[in-house]
Amino acid sequence: MIPKEILDEINSRLNIKDIVGNYLSLKRTGKNYTALCPFHPEDTPSFFIFPTTNTFHCFGCGAHGDPISFIQKYEQLSFIDAVKKAANLAGIDISKYLKKRELPTELQIFESYHNKYKEILLNLPKSHPAWNYLIKRGISRDYAERFELGFSNGSLKSSILDDFDLPPTLGSELGIIRKDGSEVFNNRIIIPIKDDFGRVVAFAGRSINNEIPKYLNSPENKFFQKSKILFLYDKAKNIIKREKYTILVEGYFDAISMHINGFENSVAILGSAFTANHAKKLIKLTDKVITMFDMDAAGQNATLKSFDYLLSYGFQVAISQYNTKDPDELIKKQGKNGVLKALENSKKFYDFIPEYYKDKYNINDEFGIEQYLEKMAEWYLKFQKSKHAAILDTFIKRISLILLKPENNIKKAIENILKYKKFNKKIIPYVSQTEDSISSKQKNIMSLINNLYGSGLNTKDLEII
Ligand code: UTP
Ligand code: MN
Repeated sequence: MIPKEILDEINSRLNIKDIVGNYLSLKRTGKNYTALCPFHPEDTPSFFIFPTTNTFHCFGCGAHGDPISFIQKYEQLSFIDAVKKAANLAGIDISKYLKKRELPTELQIFESYHNKYKEILLNLPKSHPAWNYLIKRGISRDYAERFELGFSNGSLKSSILDDFDLPPTLGSELGIIRKDGSEVFNNRIIIPIKDDFGRVVAFAGRSINNEIPKYLNSPENKFFQKSKILFLYDKAKNIIKREKYTILVEGYFDAISMHINGFENSVAILGSAFTANHAKKLIKLTDKVITMFDMDAAGQNATLKSFDYLLSYGFQVAISQYNTKDPDELIKKQGKNGVLKALENSKKFYDFIPEYYKDKYNINDEFGIEQYLEKMAEWYLKFQKSKHAAILDTFIKRISLILLKPENNIKKAIENILKYKKFNKKIIPYVSQTEDSISSKQKNIMSLINNLYGSGLNTKDLEII
Protein backbone atom coordinates (compact mmCIF):
# COMPACT_ATOMS: atom_id res chain seq x y z
CA MET A 1 0.00 0.00 0.00
CA ILE A 2 1.21 3.45 -0.81
CA PRO A 3 0.31 5.69 2.15
CA LYS A 4 -2.29 8.39 1.55
CA GLU A 5 0.17 11.13 2.56
CA ILE A 6 2.46 10.04 -0.28
CA LEU A 7 -0.38 10.08 -2.81
CA ASP A 8 -1.36 13.53 -1.56
CA GLU A 9 2.25 14.68 -1.84
CA ILE A 10 2.48 13.41 -5.44
CA ASN A 11 -0.77 15.13 -6.38
CA SER A 12 0.22 18.37 -4.73
CA ARG A 13 3.53 18.47 -6.56
CA LEU A 14 1.81 18.02 -9.91
CA ASN A 15 -0.06 20.93 -11.43
CA ILE A 16 -3.33 19.69 -12.93
CA LYS A 17 -3.17 22.35 -15.63
CA ASP A 18 0.30 21.16 -16.72
CA ILE A 19 -0.63 17.51 -16.56
CA VAL A 20 -3.81 17.87 -18.65
CA GLY A 21 -2.04 20.42 -20.87
CA ASN A 22 0.43 17.68 -21.83
CA TYR A 23 -2.40 15.85 -23.54
CA LEU A 24 -5.11 18.39 -24.46
CA SER A 25 -5.22 21.93 -25.73
CA LEU A 26 -6.64 24.16 -23.04
CA LYS A 27 -8.56 27.41 -23.15
CA ARG A 28 -8.54 29.86 -20.28
CA THR A 29 -11.90 30.88 -18.81
CA GLY A 30 -11.37 33.21 -15.86
CA LYS A 31 -9.25 31.42 -13.27
CA ASN A 32 -10.14 28.00 -14.74
CA TYR A 33 -9.40 26.21 -18.03
CA THR A 34 -11.61 24.21 -20.40
CA ALA A 35 -11.03 21.58 -23.07
CA LEU A 36 -12.95 19.07 -25.16
CA CYS A 37 -13.48 16.14 -22.82
CA PRO A 38 -11.23 13.20 -23.73
CA PHE A 39 -13.56 10.75 -22.00
CA HIS A 40 -16.72 11.28 -24.05
CA PRO A 41 -17.44 12.63 -27.52
CA GLU A 42 -18.43 16.33 -27.61
CA ASP A 43 -18.27 19.43 -29.82
CA THR A 44 -18.30 22.14 -27.17
CA PRO A 45 -16.04 21.95 -24.13
CA SER A 46 -17.63 20.77 -20.90
CA PHE A 47 -14.33 19.59 -19.38
CA PHE A 48 -13.03 21.97 -16.71
CA ILE A 49 -9.74 22.33 -14.88
CA PHE A 50 -9.80 23.97 -11.47
CA PRO A 51 -6.28 25.12 -10.50
CA THR A 52 -7.41 26.15 -7.03
CA THR A 53 -8.45 22.61 -6.06
CA ASN A 54 -5.93 21.00 -8.48
CA THR A 55 -8.75 18.86 -9.96
CA PHE A 56 -10.61 18.29 -13.22
CA HIS A 57 -14.33 17.79 -13.78
CA CYS A 58 -16.44 17.11 -16.86
CA PHE A 59 -19.97 18.47 -16.68
CA GLY A 60 -20.87 16.25 -19.64
CA CYS A 61 -19.85 12.77 -18.48
CA GLY A 62 -19.01 13.33 -14.84
CA ALA A 63 -15.34 12.35 -15.14
CA HIS A 64 -13.60 13.86 -12.15
CA GLY A 65 -10.35 13.67 -10.27
CA ASP A 66 -6.83 14.72 -9.38
CA PRO A 67 -3.58 14.60 -11.40
CA ILE A 68 -3.00 10.88 -10.66
CA SER A 69 -6.52 9.93 -11.71
CA PHE A 70 -6.26 11.98 -14.91
CA ILE A 71 -3.09 10.09 -15.88
CA GLN A 72 -4.74 6.80 -15.00
CA LYS A 73 -7.88 7.53 -16.98
CA TYR A 74 -6.25 9.16 -19.98
CA GLU A 75 -3.48 6.56 -20.36
CA GLN A 76 -5.78 3.70 -19.35
CA LEU A 77 -3.36 2.49 -16.70
CA SER A 78 -3.86 0.50 -13.54
CA PHE A 79 -3.92 2.66 -10.43
CA ILE A 80 -0.46 1.52 -9.38
CA ASP A 81 1.04 2.20 -12.82
CA ALA A 82 -0.52 5.65 -12.85
CA VAL A 83 0.94 6.35 -9.41
CA LYS A 84 4.36 5.18 -10.61
CA LYS A 85 4.18 7.51 -13.59
CA ALA A 86 2.89 10.43 -11.53
CA ALA A 87 5.52 9.88 -8.82
CA ASN A 88 8.17 9.94 -11.49
CA LEU A 89 6.86 13.24 -12.86
CA ALA A 90 6.66 14.61 -9.33
CA GLY A 91 10.19 13.48 -8.52
CA ILE A 92 9.11 11.32 -5.59
CA ASP A 93 10.73 7.94 -4.98
CA ILE A 94 8.04 5.41 -4.14
CA SER A 95 10.12 2.25 -4.67
CA LYS A 96 10.06 1.24 -1.01
CA TYR A 97 6.27 1.24 -0.95
CA LEU A 98 6.02 -0.60 -4.24
CA LYS A 99 8.27 -3.39 -3.10
CA LYS A 100 6.20 -3.98 -0.01
CA ARG A 101 3.06 -3.78 -2.01
CA GLU A 102 4.17 -6.14 -4.72
CA LEU A 103 5.74 -8.73 -2.44
CA PRO A 104 3.19 -11.25 -1.18
CA THR A 105 2.98 -11.47 2.61
CA GLU A 106 4.69 -14.88 2.76
CA LEU A 107 7.67 -13.49 0.88
CA GLN A 108 7.76 -10.35 2.99
CA ILE A 109 8.09 -12.68 5.97
CA PHE A 110 10.93 -14.61 4.34
CA GLU A 111 12.60 -11.35 3.40
CA SER A 112 12.32 -9.94 6.90
CA TYR A 113 13.64 -13.07 8.59
CA HIS A 114 16.38 -13.28 5.98
CA ASN A 115 17.48 -9.71 6.66
CA LYS A 116 17.67 -10.44 10.37
CA TYR A 117 19.50 -13.73 9.86
CA LYS A 118 22.11 -11.96 7.70
CA GLU A 119 22.52 -9.27 10.34
CA ILE A 120 22.94 -11.88 13.09
CA LEU A 121 25.67 -13.70 11.15
CA LEU A 122 27.57 -10.52 10.37
CA ASN A 123 27.42 -9.44 13.99
CA LEU A 124 28.73 -12.71 15.40
CA PRO A 125 32.28 -12.59 16.73
CA LYS A 126 34.93 -14.11 14.46
CA SER A 127 35.46 -16.87 16.98
CA HIS A 128 31.83 -18.04 16.87
CA PRO A 129 31.34 -21.66 15.69
CA ALA A 130 29.30 -20.40 12.71
CA TRP A 131 32.27 -18.42 11.41
CA ASN A 132 34.69 -21.23 12.22
CA TYR A 133 32.49 -23.48 10.15
CA LEU A 134 32.18 -21.10 7.21
CA ILE A 135 35.87 -20.19 7.15
CA LYS A 136 36.75 -23.89 7.19
CA ARG A 137 34.57 -24.25 4.10
CA GLY A 138 36.25 -21.34 2.34
CA ILE A 139 33.44 -18.86 2.91
CA SER A 140 34.89 -15.54 3.99
CA ARG A 141 32.81 -12.65 5.29
CA ASP A 142 32.74 -11.20 1.76
CA TYR A 143 31.41 -14.43 0.30
CA ALA A 144 28.87 -14.79 3.08
CA GLU A 145 27.62 -11.33 2.12
CA ARG A 146 27.68 -12.15 -1.59
CA PHE A 147 25.55 -15.25 -1.14
CA GLU A 148 23.51 -13.53 1.56
CA LEU A 149 24.08 -16.24 4.12
CA GLY A 150 22.69 -15.81 7.59
CA PHE A 151 22.59 -17.49 10.95
CA SER A 152 19.77 -18.34 13.29
CA ASN A 153 20.68 -18.12 16.97
CA GLY A 154 17.12 -18.59 18.11
CA SER A 155 16.74 -14.99 19.26
CA LEU A 156 14.14 -13.86 16.73
CA LYS A 157 11.37 -16.29 17.54
CA SER A 158 8.09 -14.92 16.24
CA SER A 159 9.03 -11.24 16.68
CA ILE A 160 8.89 -10.61 12.96
CA LEU A 161 5.55 -12.32 12.55
CA ASP A 162 4.19 -10.18 15.36
CA ASP A 163 5.12 -7.10 13.32
CA PHE A 164 2.96 -8.44 10.52
CA ASP A 165 0.03 -8.98 12.81
CA LEU A 166 -0.74 -12.39 11.29
CA PRO A 167 -2.08 -15.61 12.72
CA PRO A 168 0.81 -17.44 14.45
CA THR A 169 0.15 -20.53 12.33
CA LEU A 170 1.70 -18.87 9.28
CA GLY A 171 5.15 -19.10 10.88
CA SER A 172 4.87 -22.84 11.24
CA GLU A 173 3.24 -23.27 7.84
CA LEU A 174 6.23 -21.52 6.29
CA GLY A 175 8.56 -23.67 8.39
CA ILE A 176 10.28 -20.76 10.12
CA ILE A 177 8.76 -20.86 13.61
CA ARG A 178 7.58 -23.98 15.42
CA LYS A 179 4.20 -24.14 17.08
CA ASP A 180 5.90 -23.68 20.45
CA GLY A 181 7.37 -20.39 19.21
CA SER A 182 10.96 -21.59 18.77
CA GLU A 183 12.96 -21.14 15.58
CA VAL A 184 13.15 -24.09 13.20
CA PHE A 185 16.63 -23.20 11.93
CA ASN A 186 18.11 -22.50 15.35
CA ASN A 187 21.90 -22.88 15.37
CA ARG A 188 22.10 -23.33 11.61
CA ILE A 189 23.65 -21.36 8.77
CA ILE A 190 20.83 -19.91 6.71
CA ILE A 191 21.07 -20.29 2.96
CA PRO A 192 18.42 -18.26 1.13
CA ILE A 193 16.64 -20.10 -1.64
CA LYS A 194 15.43 -17.64 -4.23
CA ASP A 195 13.05 -17.84 -7.12
CA ASP A 196 13.93 -16.81 -10.66
CA PHE A 197 13.40 -13.15 -9.79
CA GLY A 198 15.67 -13.22 -6.76
CA ARG A 199 12.88 -13.27 -4.15
CA VAL A 200 13.57 -15.42 -1.08
CA VAL A 201 10.99 -18.21 -1.16
CA ALA A 202 12.54 -20.69 1.28
CA PHE A 203 15.53 -21.33 3.52
CA ALA A 204 17.97 -24.16 3.81
CA GLY A 205 19.64 -24.45 7.21
CA ARG A 206 23.06 -26.15 7.33
CA SER A 207 24.01 -27.63 10.68
CA ILE A 208 27.40 -26.49 11.93
CA ASN A 209 27.98 -29.27 14.42
CA ASN A 210 27.05 -32.55 12.72
CA GLU A 211 23.50 -32.20 13.90
CA ILE A 212 21.09 -34.36 11.91
CA PRO A 213 19.72 -33.66 9.40
CA LYS A 214 22.64 -31.98 7.73
CA TYR A 215 20.27 -29.63 5.97
CA LEU A 216 16.83 -28.53 7.02
CA ASN A 217 14.77 -27.17 4.16
CA SER A 218 11.62 -25.08 4.31
CA PRO A 219 8.56 -27.08 3.38
CA GLU A 220 7.16 -26.32 -0.05
CA ASN A 221 4.87 -23.32 -0.24
CA LYS A 222 2.96 -21.43 -2.91
CA PHE A 223 6.21 -19.91 -4.16
CA PHE A 224 8.61 -22.75 -3.48
CA GLN A 225 8.47 -26.09 -5.18
CA LYS A 226 11.68 -28.04 -5.41
CA SER A 227 10.69 -29.29 -8.83
CA LYS A 228 10.59 -25.75 -10.17
CA ILE A 229 13.49 -24.02 -8.49
CA LEU A 230 17.18 -24.30 -9.20
CA PHE A 231 19.54 -22.95 -6.56
CA LEU A 232 21.46 -19.83 -7.70
CA TYR A 233 19.48 -19.69 -10.95
CA ASP A 234 18.71 -16.01 -10.34
CA LYS A 235 22.44 -15.22 -10.17
CA ALA A 236 23.43 -17.60 -12.96
CA LYS A 237 20.82 -16.92 -15.62
CA ASN A 238 22.58 -14.10 -17.46
CA ILE A 239 25.94 -15.82 -17.22
CA ILE A 240 24.45 -19.02 -18.64
CA LYS A 241 23.24 -17.02 -21.63
CA ARG A 242 26.65 -15.45 -22.05
CA GLU A 243 28.62 -18.68 -21.61
CA LYS A 244 26.12 -20.61 -23.72
CA TYR A 245 26.11 -23.58 -21.35
CA THR A 246 25.19 -24.42 -17.81
CA ILE A 247 26.74 -26.67 -15.19
CA LEU A 248 24.35 -28.73 -13.14
CA VAL A 249 25.42 -29.68 -9.61
CA GLU A 250 23.75 -31.39 -6.70
CA GLY A 251 24.44 -29.47 -3.52
CA TYR A 252 24.11 -25.95 -2.16
CA PHE A 253 27.79 -25.68 -1.34
CA ASP A 254 28.76 -27.21 -4.66
CA ALA A 255 26.95 -24.37 -6.39
CA ILE A 256 28.39 -21.74 -4.03
CA SER A 257 31.97 -23.03 -4.43
CA MET A 258 31.57 -23.18 -8.19
CA HIS A 259 30.39 -19.57 -8.28
CA ILE A 260 33.20 -18.42 -6.00
CA ASN A 261 35.69 -20.07 -8.32
CA GLY A 262 34.38 -18.39 -11.43
CA PHE A 263 31.93 -21.00 -12.69
CA GLU A 264 28.99 -18.69 -12.27
CA ASN A 265 26.92 -20.54 -14.84
CA SER A 266 26.34 -23.31 -12.26
CA VAL A 267 22.99 -24.12 -10.72
CA ALA A 268 22.00 -26.84 -8.25
CA ILE A 269 18.99 -29.06 -7.94
CA LEU A 270 17.54 -28.96 -4.45
CA GLY A 271 18.34 -32.38 -3.10
CA SER A 272 15.76 -34.02 -5.35
CA ALA A 273 15.37 -35.01 -8.97
CA PHE A 274 15.97 -32.90 -12.04
CA THR A 275 12.54 -32.32 -13.52
CA ALA A 276 10.81 -31.31 -16.72
CA ASN A 277 10.24 -27.89 -15.14
CA HIS A 278 13.96 -27.44 -14.62
CA ALA A 279 14.60 -28.44 -18.23
CA LYS A 280 11.94 -26.05 -19.48
CA LYS A 281 13.52 -23.21 -17.52
CA LEU A 282 17.08 -23.89 -18.68
CA ILE A 283 16.32 -24.51 -22.34
CA LYS A 284 15.27 -20.86 -22.61
CA LEU A 285 18.86 -19.89 -21.78
CA THR A 286 20.96 -22.57 -23.44
CA ASP A 287 20.80 -26.02 -25.00
CA LYS A 288 24.08 -27.21 -23.52
CA VAL A 289 24.42 -28.79 -20.10
CA ILE A 290 27.37 -30.32 -18.33
CA THR A 291 26.29 -32.40 -15.37
CA MET A 292 28.57 -32.42 -12.37
CA PHE A 293 26.62 -34.41 -9.85
CA ASP A 294 28.27 -36.20 -6.94
CA MET A 295 30.44 -39.17 -7.83
CA ASP A 296 28.71 -41.53 -5.40
CA ALA A 297 26.03 -43.97 -6.50
CA ALA A 298 23.22 -41.55 -5.67
CA GLY A 299 24.85 -38.84 -7.76
CA GLN A 300 25.39 -41.16 -10.69
CA ASN A 301 21.76 -42.27 -10.52
CA ALA A 302 20.70 -38.64 -10.45
CA THR A 303 22.87 -38.07 -13.53
CA LEU A 304 21.21 -40.91 -15.43
CA LYS A 305 17.75 -39.83 -14.39
CA SER A 306 18.38 -36.25 -15.46
CA PHE A 307 18.98 -37.48 -19.02
CA ASP A 308 15.31 -38.28 -19.49
CA TYR A 309 14.29 -34.65 -19.38
CA LEU A 310 17.53 -33.24 -20.71
CA LEU A 311 17.22 -35.39 -23.82
CA SER A 312 13.50 -34.87 -24.23
CA TYR A 313 14.05 -31.11 -24.15
CA GLY A 314 16.80 -31.41 -26.74
CA PHE A 315 19.84 -30.54 -24.65
CA GLN A 316 23.31 -31.53 -25.71
CA VAL A 317 24.44 -33.21 -22.53
CA ALA A 318 27.97 -33.86 -21.35
CA ILE A 319 28.88 -35.58 -18.10
CA SER A 320 31.92 -34.62 -16.09
CA GLN A 321 33.79 -37.25 -14.15
CA TYR A 322 36.30 -36.49 -11.44
CA ASN A 323 37.90 -38.28 -8.55
CA THR A 324 36.46 -36.59 -5.48
CA LYS A 325 33.08 -36.85 -3.77
CA ASP A 326 31.54 -33.69 -5.19
CA PRO A 327 32.50 -30.42 -6.93
CA ASP A 328 32.97 -28.65 -3.59
CA GLU A 329 35.57 -31.20 -2.53
CA LEU A 330 37.12 -31.13 -6.00
CA ILE A 331 37.68 -27.39 -5.60
CA LYS A 332 39.04 -27.78 -2.06
CA LYS A 333 41.52 -30.43 -3.21
CA GLN A 334 42.40 -29.41 -6.75
CA GLY A 335 41.23 -25.84 -7.06
CA LYS A 336 39.78 -24.21 -10.11
CA ASN A 337 42.03 -26.27 -12.36
CA GLY A 338 40.50 -29.46 -11.07
CA VAL A 339 37.11 -28.21 -12.22
CA LEU A 340 38.47 -27.05 -15.56
CA LYS A 341 40.01 -30.45 -16.13
CA ALA A 342 36.77 -32.20 -15.17
CA LEU A 343 34.82 -29.98 -17.57
CA GLU A 344 37.31 -30.48 -20.38
CA ASN A 345 37.25 -34.22 -19.91
CA SER A 346 33.49 -34.40 -19.72
CA LYS A 347 31.99 -37.02 -21.97
CA LYS A 348 29.13 -36.56 -24.37
CA PHE A 349 26.12 -38.57 -23.26
CA TYR A 350 26.45 -41.14 -26.06
CA ASP A 351 30.08 -41.78 -25.08
CA PHE A 352 29.29 -41.81 -21.38
CA ILE A 353 26.49 -44.37 -21.43
CA PRO A 354 28.43 -47.28 -22.99
CA GLU A 355 31.43 -46.54 -20.74
CA TYR A 356 29.38 -46.16 -17.58
CA TYR A 357 27.52 -49.45 -17.95
CA LYS A 358 30.47 -51.53 -19.06
CA ASP A 359 31.58 -51.86 -15.44
CA LYS A 360 28.10 -52.71 -14.27
CA TYR A 361 27.97 -55.98 -16.20
CA ASN A 362 30.44 -58.75 -16.69
CA ILE A 363 31.20 -58.23 -20.35
CA ASN A 364 33.70 -61.05 -20.40
CA ASP A 365 30.77 -63.39 -20.32
CA GLU A 366 28.16 -63.87 -23.06
CA PHE A 367 25.32 -63.62 -20.57
CA GLY A 368 26.78 -60.39 -19.18
CA ILE A 369 27.11 -59.03 -22.73
CA GLU A 370 23.47 -59.81 -23.33
CA GLN A 371 22.43 -57.84 -20.26
CA TYR A 372 24.76 -55.01 -21.22
CA LEU A 373 23.26 -54.88 -24.70
CA GLU A 374 19.76 -54.85 -23.29
CA LYS A 375 20.72 -51.80 -21.31
CA MET A 376 22.24 -50.23 -24.42
CA ALA A 377 19.04 -51.00 -26.35
CA GLU A 378 17.08 -49.08 -23.77
CA TRP A 379 19.29 -46.04 -24.27
CA TYR A 380 19.33 -46.55 -28.03
CA LEU A 381 15.60 -46.07 -27.95
CA LYS A 382 15.87 -42.98 -25.76
CA PHE A 383 18.37 -41.41 -28.15
CA GLN A 384 16.22 -42.39 -31.11
CA LYS A 385 13.26 -40.58 -29.57
CA SER A 386 15.39 -37.53 -28.78
CA LYS A 387 16.56 -34.79 -31.07
CA HIS A 388 19.85 -36.65 -31.28
CA ALA A 389 18.94 -39.64 -33.44
CA ALA A 390 21.87 -38.70 -35.68
CA ILE A 391 24.33 -39.88 -33.04
CA LEU A 392 23.05 -43.47 -33.05
CA ASP A 393 25.84 -44.63 -35.34
CA THR A 394 28.46 -43.13 -33.06
CA PHE A 395 26.75 -44.73 -30.09
CA ILE A 396 26.91 -48.15 -31.79
CA LYS A 397 30.55 -47.55 -32.67
CA ARG A 398 31.44 -46.89 -29.01
CA ILE A 399 29.72 -50.10 -27.97
CA SER A 400 31.51 -52.06 -30.64
CA LEU A 401 34.85 -50.69 -29.40
CA ILE A 402 34.03 -51.76 -25.87
CA LEU A 403 32.81 -55.23 -26.79
CA LEU A 404 35.34 -55.65 -29.59
CA LYS A 405 32.64 -56.83 -31.94
CA PRO A 406 31.68 -55.48 -35.38
CA GLU A 407 29.30 -52.52 -35.44
CA ASN A 408 26.86 -54.37 -37.66
CA ASN A 409 26.50 -57.19 -35.18
CA ILE A 410 25.89 -54.75 -32.36
CA LYS A 411 23.27 -52.89 -34.33
CA LYS A 412 21.50 -56.11 -35.26
CA ALA A 413 21.59 -57.35 -31.70
CA ILE A 414 20.12 -54.10 -30.42
CA GLU A 415 17.42 -54.09 -33.05
CA ASN A 416 16.53 -57.66 -32.12
CA ILE A 417 16.31 -56.78 -28.46
CA LEU A 418 14.06 -53.86 -29.30
CA LYS A 419 11.76 -56.18 -31.22
CA TYR A 420 10.96 -58.32 -28.23
CA LYS A 421 11.51 -55.96 -25.30
CA LYS A 422 9.23 -53.11 -24.36
CA PHE A 423 11.17 -50.18 -22.91
CA ASN A 424 8.88 -47.57 -24.35
CA LYS A 425 7.08 -46.76 -21.15
CA LYS A 426 9.98 -44.92 -19.60
CA ILE A 427 10.78 -42.82 -22.59
CA ILE A 428 9.77 -39.23 -22.97
CA PRO A 429 9.98 -38.16 -26.58
CA TYR A 430 11.61 -34.98 -27.75
CA VAL A 431 9.64 -31.89 -26.87
CA SER A 432 9.78 -29.30 -29.62
CA GLN A 433 10.58 -25.83 -28.29
CA THR A 434 9.21 -24.02 -31.31
CA GLU A 435 5.58 -24.17 -30.25
CA ASP A 436 4.65 -20.72 -29.11
CA SER A 437 2.62 -21.33 -26.01
CA ILE A 438 3.48 -23.53 -23.09
CA SER A 439 0.00 -24.89 -22.82
CA SER A 440 0.01 -26.00 -26.42
CA LYS A 441 3.43 -27.49 -25.81
CA GLN A 442 2.05 -29.43 -22.88
CA LYS A 443 -0.91 -30.61 -24.90
CA ASN A 444 1.50 -31.67 -27.56
CA ILE A 445 3.57 -33.80 -25.19
CA MET A 446 0.48 -35.35 -23.72
CA SER A 447 -1.02 -36.26 -27.05
CA LEU A 448 2.29 -37.64 -28.26
CA ILE A 449 2.58 -39.74 -25.17
CA ASN A 450 -0.99 -40.90 -25.29
CA ASN A 451 -0.61 -41.85 -28.93
CA LEU A 452 2.54 -43.77 -28.26
CA TYR A 453 1.77 -45.49 -25.03
CA GLY A 454 -1.92 -45.25 -24.42
CA SER A 455 -2.97 -44.00 -21.02
CA GLY A 456 -0.43 -46.07 -19.05
CA LEU A 457 1.59 -42.99 -18.18
CA ASN A 458 0.35 -40.67 -15.53
CA THR A 459 0.80 -36.93 -16.06
CA LYS A 460 2.19 -36.66 -12.54
CA ASP A 461 5.12 -38.87 -13.46
CA LEU A 462 6.05 -36.44 -16.17
CA GLU A 463 6.01 -33.40 -13.94
CA ILE A 464 4.96 -31.21 -16.81
CA ILE A 465 1.81 -29.87 -15.26
P1 UTP B 1 24.92 -33.97 0.00
O1 UTP B 1 24.74 -34.93 1.13
O2 UTP B 1 25.80 -34.35 -1.13
O3 UTP B 1 25.31 -32.62 0.63
O4 UTP B 1 23.49 -33.59 -0.51
P2 UTP B 1 26.44 -31.57 0.24
O5 UTP B 1 25.88 -30.56 -0.65
O6 UTP B 1 27.69 -32.25 -0.17
O7 UTP B 1 26.55 -30.93 1.66
P3 UTP B 1 27.79 -30.38 2.40
O8 UTP B 1 28.77 -30.01 1.36
O9 UTP B 1 28.25 -31.46 3.31
O10 UTP B 1 27.26 -29.22 3.15
C1 UTP B 1 23.30 -32.85 -1.67
C2 UTP B 1 22.14 -31.95 -1.48
O11 UTP B 1 21.02 -32.68 -1.01
C3 UTP B 1 20.23 -31.88 -0.16
C4 UTP B 1 20.89 -30.52 -0.16
O12 UTP B 1 20.34 -29.77 -1.23
C5 UTP B 1 22.32 -30.86 -0.44
O13 UTP B 1 23.07 -29.75 -0.89
N1 UTP B 1 20.19 -32.41 1.21
C6 UTP B 1 21.17 -33.21 1.70
C7 UTP B 1 19.15 -32.04 2.03
O14 UTP B 1 18.26 -31.31 1.60
N2 UTP B 1 19.10 -32.50 3.31
C8 UTP B 1 20.08 -33.28 3.83
O15 UTP B 1 20.01 -33.62 5.02
C9 UTP B 1 21.12 -33.66 2.99
MN1 MN C 1 27.59 -33.39 -2.01
